[in-house]
Amino acid sequence: MNLETCSDLPSIISARRELTAQGYTLSDEILLLEGDRELRKQCVVAFAGDLQADYVTFHPDRQRLRNVYEVGYSGDGKLQLTETDSIAIENRNMGGKREYKRADFLSVAHFENLLARLYLSIPETDRSSIRLIEVDYMRTRNVVTNTIHRDFRDYVGIFCLQKHGQGAETHLYLDLDGKECAYKHVLSPGEVLLFRDENFYHFTTDLEAETENSLRDVFIIIFGD
Ligand SMILES: [Fe+2]
Repeated sequence: MNLETCSDLPSIISARRELTAQGYTLSDEILLLEGDRELRKQCVVAFAGDLQADYVTFHPDRQRLRNVYEVGYSGDGKLQLTETDSIAIENRNMGGKREYKRADFLSVAHFENLLARLYLSIPETDRSSIRLIEVDYMRTRNVVTNTIHRDFRDYVGIFCLQKHGQGAETHLYLDLDGKECAYKHVLSPGEVLLFRDENFYHFTTDLEAETENSLRDVFIIIFGD
């Protein structure tokens, strides 16, 4: 299935169902899911007021809230999640050690279900090495990502909470130069994109501001070791 030509969610879901029913095994490297609409509203209400400036020398208009969880799974559909002592970002693409305000994302009902749903969407063979889930609530108003990059983790999920303005198309490339695009999609509020980080270089185009209130809020949910 060519995902690039099949970018609307109902088509992907029905195509996946149909192909699975016919006995095909579909790639789990890229997955587009319909998220929980009530959850996204609750998260904006609970956390948007606490957002703080991100790495200002590189992302002057980006804000962030963050938490990191150790994850365990014993096969009953529920995750065991424990906050790590430090949520600092170190040695990622650029910059030194970055400290952030910790948000209690698990205080919002059903947030844990979202993490479990994404975790269980990852093929079992890839799950065994996953020890940590990093969760970042990110708000951008113009530049979403500066460069085509990898996060150097196992799987990356993007859950769109709200979006006001045009643009912000997410691209998954097969090469760092951005010549071969494997998938592109503008995430709508409520949608979740999950992909295997090692297989792609990712990038999201700028948010084209329509008003001074334009913004895009997402959860970046990174599974790694
Ligand atoms: Fe990234």
